[in-house]
Amino acid sequence: MTKRALITGITGQDGAYLAELLLSKNYDVYGMVRRSSTNNKERLNHLKNDIHLIDGDLADGGNITRMLNTVQPDEIYNLGAQSHVGSSFDMPEFTANVDGLGILRLLESMRTLDMQDTKFYQASSSEIFGNSPETPLNETSPFLPCSPYGVAKLYAYWTVINYRQAYDFYACNGILFNHESPMRGAEFVTRKITKAVAGIYHGSKETLKLGNLNAKRDWGHARDYVRGMWMMMQMDQAGDYVLATGETRSVRKFIEAAFAYIDIQIEWQGESENEKGINKKTGDILVEIDPNFYRPNELHCLVGDAKKANKKLGWSPEISFNDLVAEMVAHDIEVYQK
Ligand code: NAP
Ligand code: GDD
Repeated sequence: MTKRALITGITGQDGAYLAELLLSKNYDVYGMVRRSSTNNKERLNHLKNDIHLIDGDLADGGNITRMLNTVQPDEIYNLGAQSHVGSSFDMPEFTANVDGLGILRLLESMRTLDMQDTKFYQASSSEIFGNSPETPLNETSPFLPCSPYGVAKLYAYWTVINYRQAYDFYACNGILFNHESPMRGAEFVTRKITKAVAGIYHGSKETLKLGNLNAKRDWGHARDYVRGMWMMMQMDQAGDYVLATGETRSVRKFIEAAFAYIDIQIEWQGESENEKGINKKTGDILVEIDPNFYRPNELHCLVGDAKKANKKLGWSPEISFNDLVAEMVAHDIEVYQK
């Protein structure tokens, strides 16, 4: 029997990879798309004839109920979110509404429509751990979110568990650590770096301006992580799972790796706001600090422990950090436009 999946956030990085994966497994794929005056469907260009798109917004409860009633999905993947941590400090109320209450609207609609056989996946995040004292972080580590985004995602996390316990829904939290790809939004640090490196490769004289270079993240590839989402939905019982690589690197190391791909070695000079990344061979300044990109509160280091997902789901990441960086830089070199 063909399964029917509904993806909120289908126009985002993970939405596009997940839609691709589900189509390859012969799912009938539906996606919620919010209205925009500009094209927000670019990541779906190659799939547009194979998927069904429905107008909607996680901030609108009535719209969600009608959508679920029409689609009657077997599996719901809730990936829609204001997903930029830095922006959540500027838009805390909007972030709480979409990333927190949006999940409540979906689960309440499922309850109202008595969708007991529909499985639900929530895109939870390692941001809920914040600056937790434990390392590496697993499903039992303490939650100390340090951004409005992290706080909203923690509300969503507990809402999922509450609906699982109270109404016996198959609802799971995928607590995913950072995952990137050539489809990553341009305002996230990895893609910002790989796009700038591609520009410099093509002769641009730009300087890459960044905030905190010392923050460390556990970076994997989005393709591996959407596979893990699907695996969580194929179990007999719902659960919460960390997906992570178990390796952590600083923003500085990501910069070095990305420039190394085009044979540029970076030498660091100066300190804090005066620090600069210099091309060792030519002396050109390639990286500078712009304090505007500092956050009011920073999550300093993330490293995850995905043993539970490995043991119960058989999941482990297949794409290495170096291959991730190489794929991103190569892609940005190819698509570069002045
Ligand atoms: P993304 O590229 O920013 O995509 C977010 C998606 O949510 C987009 O399709 C966006 O639509 C949609 N959206 C935003 N506001 C909405 C609203 N009010 N109603 C309906 N849809 C809305 O994010 P991603 O990297 O694919 O991440 C997917 C999910 O995983 C997000 O929930 C994110 O918070 C979570 N997550 C991501 C990571 C990561 O490292 N990537 C790690 C942990 C958790 P537009 O295209 O119109 O903007
Ligand atoms: N975005 C950005 N831009 N980040 C910068 C910059 C810059 O110019 N300079 C330094 N950084 C630092 C940030 O301060 C942060 O410590 C780190 O780079 C990573 O920032 P992002 O790439 O924006 O990702 P994030 O870790 O804050 O959030 C991502 O991962 C979460 C999971 O841990 C997002 O995908 C979230 O949606 C996701 O939940």
